[in-house]
Amino acid sequence: MTILVTGGAGFIGSNFVLDWLKTSDEPVVNLDALTYAGNLENLASLQHDPRHVFVKGDICDRALIDQLLATHQPRALVHFAAESHVDRSIHGPGAFMRTNIEGTFTLLEAARGYWSALPAEAKAAFRFHHVSTDEVYGSLKPSDPPFAESNPYEPNSPYSASKAASDHLVRAWHHTYGLPVVTTNCSNNYGPYHFPEKLIPLMIVNALAGKPLPVYGDGQQIRDWLYVTDHCAGIRAVLAGGRLGETYNIGGWNEKANIDIVKTVCALLDELRPDPAGPYSRLITYVTDRPGHDRRYAIDARKIERELGWRPAETFDTGIRKTVQWYLANADWVSQVQSGAYRDWVAKQYD
Ligand code: NAD
Ligand code: DAU
Repeated sequence: MTILVTGGAGFIGSNFVLDWLKTSDEPVVNLDALTYAGNLENLASLQHDPRHVFVKGDICDRALIDQLLATHQPRALVHFAAESHVDRSIHGPGAFMRTNIEGTFTLLEAARGYWSALPAEAKAAFRFHHVSTDEVYGSLKPSDPPFAESNPYEPNSPYSASKAASDHLVRAWHHTYGLPVVTTNCSNNYGPYHFPEKLIPLMIVNALAGKPLPVYGDGQQIRDWLYVTDHCAGIRAVLAGGRLGETYNIGGWNEKANIDIVKTVCALLDELRPDPAGPYSRLITYVTDRPGHDRRYAIDARKIERELGWRPAETFDTGIRKTVQWYLANADWVSQVQSGAYRDWVAKQYD
């Protein structure tokens, strides 16, 4: 048996592949286009592992997907590949429409063709697992209850609109064609291999470089943070036991304002790598807000706990400490991803 993973060289996908092969011997075929966000260094420990087959390619390439399905006969497809950064979607939404919508459509059609021709037992066992986000639900007011699976979709950014569109496609391919799908909608992840364009790793690498820590607007926007390996465990639980056609919200029960996240990162760095120039919080700089910035996300993760027994293993305190320690121990990874393209992005977004 084999699973096909898309986007397995990105932040969550690579954590998922590493965890999968730690907990199982089932091989993984990993399809990734290696955009700026994909990095084979994340998978360096699997370089000589025959259970991991890496294929560089695009999820919009139907012929390639057909060939991978025919060759490897996977029992499941776990779909992570996406353009994932909200700020980039504001500067250039086109790539998001292509990968997140057209790419998901291409995978669904290829999976449908493959799945329909499977023998009965393999057909019943096949799963298409779509990895999505809480951002499809829009923005919560301070007194609103957290997002449940029944919340209406109200995406506000080009990124979240493209993910919402992909969720709708997945739902329709189940409803119309009977394709055996499950979807997970997760809150903000953090942990190792997180690309330093996102809040937590950006704050760590900027602080260590003595650069400003750019906080958008008033810094009071709230996100619900989940350590990445907890997300991976949630995906494994849904893949194994999730009901077909259902969606499962995954979250950490960890609502935090951005400014508090930044102050926590600064305090940990003060403890673990003190700067003779003074506390890292001196670098906090309020900058122009993100257009259309969602104020609050929060996940009600009771369904996945009730049905599948999943709960996060990490608290925010344990997860953020591990994360900061990982970045301190992996300065080479950080400098390797800070290529010319990364510097161009930082100049475009923050100068
Ligand atoms: P990421 O940007 O770190 O990685 C995306 C990966 O997809 C990269 O390896 C990239 O090379 C690959 N990719 C992009 N376009 C491709 C294409 N056309 N064909 C093949 N591969 C392509 O993203 P991430 O943060 O790891 O997110 C993974 C998934 O989880 C996404 O679907 C995202 O929407 C979802 N998600 C992310 C978070 C989060 O906090 N990061 C939370 C909830 C859901
Ligand atoms: O909620 C899940 C989503 O979380 C995922 O679907 C996305 O793929 C992922 O990128 C993430 O989206 P966010 O926009 O919430 O993450 P980001 O790290 O970009 O920003 C987190 C918060 O921090 C957000 O309110 C914006 C703010 N921020 C971000 C950056 C990069 C800043 O204040 N300054 C910054 O420089």
